[in-house]
Amino acid sequence: MDRVYNFSAGPAVMPVTVLQKIQKELLSYQDSGMSVMELSHRSSLFQSILNDAESLLRELMDIPSNYEVLFLQGGASLQFTMLPMNLGKAKVAYVNTGSWSQKAIEEAEKINGLTVEVIASSKENQFSKNPVVPLVDETFDYVHITTNNTIEGTAFLDVPTSGDVPLVADMSSNILSSSYKVSDFGLIYAGAQKNIGPSGLTVVIVRKDLIGLKENLPVMLDYKVQADNGSMYNTPPTFAIYAAKLMFEWLQELGGVAEIEKLNRKKAAMLYETIEASKLYRSPVDKGSRSLTNIPFVTGDAEMDKLFIKQAENKGMINLKGHRSVGGMRASLYNAFPLEGVEELINFMKEFEAKVKGD
Ligand SMILES: Cc1ncc(COP(=O)(O)O)c(C=O)c1O
Repeated sequence: MDRVYNFSAGPAVMPVTVLQKIQKELLSYQDSGMSVMELSHRSSLFQSILNDAESLLRELMDIPSNYEVLFLQGGASLQFTMLPMNLGKAKVAYVNTGSWSQKAIEEAEKINGLTVEVIASSKENQFSKNPVVPLVDETFDYVHITTNNTIEGTAFLDVPTSGDVPLVADMSSNILSSSYKVSDFGLIYAGAQKNIGPSGLTVVIVRKDLIGLKENLPVMLDYKVQADNGSMYNTPPTFAIYAAKLMFEWLQELGGVAEIEKLNRKKAAMLYETIEASKLYRSPVDKGSRSLTNIPFVTGDAEMDKLFIKQAENKGMINLKGHRSVGGMRASLYNAFPLEGVEELINFMKEFEAKVKGD
């Protein structure tokens, strides 16, 4: 069967070679006579998958040894709760750069006794431009940012400084696609379903001194319990961890994050240049704040956008519809999205423009 060009914001495209490997190993993993899905999470076969996944991620992101890597469930959305529950002692700071930051803020506000301050926001400009993030004093327990705003298409590619206050990042939609220095952060979290693999897995990278700050938390929501049990307090999402391990191997073979970032920059630049050069399409995002992974564009006419999306779909380019809250189109170009797919989109954009402009 032919594969489509899948521009989905997540769950997103995975490399064919990874899917083929999964297919090949599906019935009998390493001659065990069992699928990975059937392996006990306490078996040595699964334990080595988990160990490999962790060490590959450590290598790819150059994670220092004073950080724990946790493989959890509940999505990035559960981290909106776990984070303030574990790290929020009195007062926490949030930067509001879009729908997902807003959700993180709302969940932190539900934690009893915690004061949540929004220290910077781009709401006034419809989340089209990164706000300036002020330094906060040490009475704050952390500063939370969203490094990439999946829906609005903005990103902090250079992270704001937070002084001695730990910087925390929701990196769901650009983890492993741009180089970040882990030691700039106290904690990083990401849902897996964009650059890491299938949904069902959430990765948390947390500095060890930030674990165990609060006592008597519900066990499943306590970073300390998860860390002390090697992410296996209960049954972990074994298949998703296995697929993530294969994705990490794939990325490492490509040369790691620095190499894929070059390719991601090239893919994004090609698309932004096409948008800039056109008289039909427009980017709603400020030039200095543009994401490499989620690229929204509009014609300014909702009917025209619909027609564009429909015709693109007929050509095997799917999931180009912008998020329902912003409309227009959005091309998500995660690590596994091929350069040829971007070329195909650009050709179609030019063809469509020529047709509607009657050139
Ligand atoms: C930046 C960001 N944060 C959080 C989420 C929520 O993730 P999950 O569905 O894993 O809870 C998403 C999902 O797309 C996202 O893009």
